[in-house]
Amino acid sequence: MEDRLSLYGRPRRLAEEALLDDVSAPYFATWYCTRRCNLSCAHCFVDVTPDIGRRDPIDTATARAMIDGLVDNDVYQLGFAGGEPFLRPDFYELAAYARERGLTIQVATNGLFLDDAAVERLLDVGFRCIQVSLDGATAESHDALRGAGRFDAALEGVRASVRGGLPVVLAIAVHRGNLDEVEAMVELAERESAIILKVQPVFTPFAWRGGDGALGPEEVRAVIRRARARSDSVELSFPRWAQIVEDGSSDATCATALRNVSILEDGRLSLCDFGPEHAFGDVTKGDFFDAWRQLVTQHHHRQRCGCSAYLDSARQEVAA
Ligand SMILES: C[S@@+](CC[C@H](N)C(=O)[O-])C[C@H]1O[C@@H](n2cnc3c(N)ncnc32)[C@H](O)[C@@H]1O
Repeated sequence: MEDRLSLYGRPRRLAEEALLDDVSAPYFATWYCTRRCNLSCAHCFVDVTPDIGRRDPIDTATARAMIDGLVDNDVYQLGFAGGEPFLRPDFYELAAYARERGLTIQVATNGLFLDDAAVERLLDVGFRCIQVSLDGATAESHDALRGAGRFDAALEGVRASVRGGLPVVLAIAVHRGNLDEVEAMVELAERESAIILKVQPVFTPFAWRGGDGALGPEEVRAVIRRARARSDSVELSFPRWAQIVEDGSSDATCATALRNVSILEDGRLSLCDFGPEHAFGDVTKGDFFDAWRQLVTQHHHRQRCGCSAYLDSARQEVAA
């Protein structure tokens, strides 16, 4: 009887079913395919490990079954994230399999493994663009987060991609240390022929020169405004939570973006990159849709995700 207690005045099961009717499966799945990383960026929200020899919890066979599950449930796109996806020895094999099964594929990388041969291989496998992180318009700001020499190396990777015919999406994490470079970053993206500049303001606290490098809501709004004012040919994209901050009055939660789902390294699903504690289900145990249903119904009960507290404070600031 308890199970049928009213939620928003309706029996709980019916409310869940209605929710799942609205969205039968997410369009996009981002898989945090490894926690191994050759960098250890100061701001990173992923708990990465430098242990390059470590085994990933989801092995190749399980990953193939997971891909089958995505296809069976009409997921449209699989994105490889991490960690550094290129450190998975089966990265190309799994990407090729996902493509063979009809998924579109994406990858987010630090660019350090990109050369002419890698670009050719990526194109052969079926990638139609690649996302490279460039966290600043200068070596000084990028390398402050990612280590000496990384800016030039990532830029070489970007140029190899463009030269080889693989369009580049540039991703910049904006924080207090590179806030002044927003316009220069837009110009750099246009100069390097990027097709999209993903502007990713950092709101998760991290130590930056003795203070916190994360941006407050007003800074997030300014970043969006300034990037838009400067952009000419490059398309800009902003995360859903940042758009909610910009539109201060909205009461939306970003986790209502049920069309994107993240698959964590251990197979749990999460609606939010920033809150692994809000993850549910397990794609390695049975059907993808069952795992996703668990995530959605659990989220529906809690109505919180990793950026909820930040969004609450941004709204309070607007209301005050
Ligand atoms: C987690 S990395 C993983 C893929 C790859 N290793 C890379 O460097 O792009 C994916 C993207 O998330 C961004 N990112 C990491 N931590 C972030 C944070 N706290 N806020 C905003 N973006 C962040 C990175 O800068 C990068 O562009």
